[in-house]
Amino acid sequence: MGADDTKEMIETVDVSPRLPEITGEEHGPDVFRQLLHQAVRVADLANAQAMRMALDFAKVYEREQGVRHEFETQLGQMTLMEKQATRYAEDLASMLRSERERRKELERALEQERVANEELRRTGLQGISHLLLAATIKDRTTGEHLQRVRGYVEAIARRLGLTADLVEEFGYSSVMHDVGKIHTPDHILQSEHHLTDEQFGVIKQHCIDGERMLGEARFFETARAIAREHHERWDGRGYPDGKKGEEISLAARIVSVADVFDALTSKRPYKDAWSADAGLKAIEKDAGERFDPEVVSAFVALYREGVVETIRCQVAANAPEQPGSSAT
Ligand SMILES: [Fe+2]
Ligand SMILES: [Fe+2]
Repeated sequence: MGADDTKEMIETVDVSPRLPEITGEEHGPDVFRQLLHQAVRVADLANAQAMRMALDFAKVYEREQGVRHEFETQLGQMTLMEKQATRYAEDLASMLRSERERRKELERALEQERVANEELRRTGLQGISHLLLAATIKDRTTGEHLQRVRGYVEAIARRLGLTADLVEEFGYSSVMHDVGKIHTPDHILQSEHHLTDEQFGVIKQHCIDGERMLGEARFFETARAIAREHHERWDGRGYPDGKKGEEISLAARIVSVADVFDALTSKRPYKDAWSADAGLKAIEKDAGERFDPEVVSAFVALYREGVVETIRCQVAANAPEQPGSSAT
């Protein structure tokens, strides 16, 4: 029986209980028939209601089953996604662990390299200190000259705003500016007379020899540039290459000012020591011709602040008591 049939049956059945119509003539079996008839109608009504309830229940049950199925499907998908997410998380954690280990290895290698470089640098600086000490013991004038030049160079570099590392590098590198003179004969170095062209050619060679003697190590890169270029001039009329302006490394431009000022204000076999003021005037006069004007400005400022004099006094105070000779 369908839902429509049930509905129709419900509408056509007269469900109102009625008392049997009892007349004066009708008694006995007729009354019983009428009561039976009404009982059948009530039973039909009850059946129809039961049917409708069963249909409603079936619909609700069917809907519930649908919801439940959908829920189970979604639960299954979520479980799958959870498994995938767990696998991705494990893979990611594994990759991160490997990456962390690689980074640690790299850091260890970098640290080892840093320690090795620092060791190399310390060894180099020690070597330079020994060189200075040896020069000072053998020849007080040369030793003091190198110490003052180093002091001036570091002060100028600092004044120009260079980093502490560069200040130190320029300073220790300046000590080797004339290292090539080891090949220059003493009679030319210590000559009190005007040099011939040929002798001056021999002197010029100390720049090239110095650069070559300093090899190829990174530690001596600045020292090589200084050895080669410290006699170059800002206007391009220096030697050995005739470089000019900023073609000349900054370190060599600084050493040039420091070296010449110290040479002028020191006694040499061919001249007396100039006063510091006279030496400074000569440096200022050559700014923009022989020297980089910015380096000269820095040096003049240091001189006026008393820094140059302080360096001169410190070197004199630390000098060993020994008879001196010559330097250039
Ligand atoms: Fe020189
Ligand atoms: Fe010098």
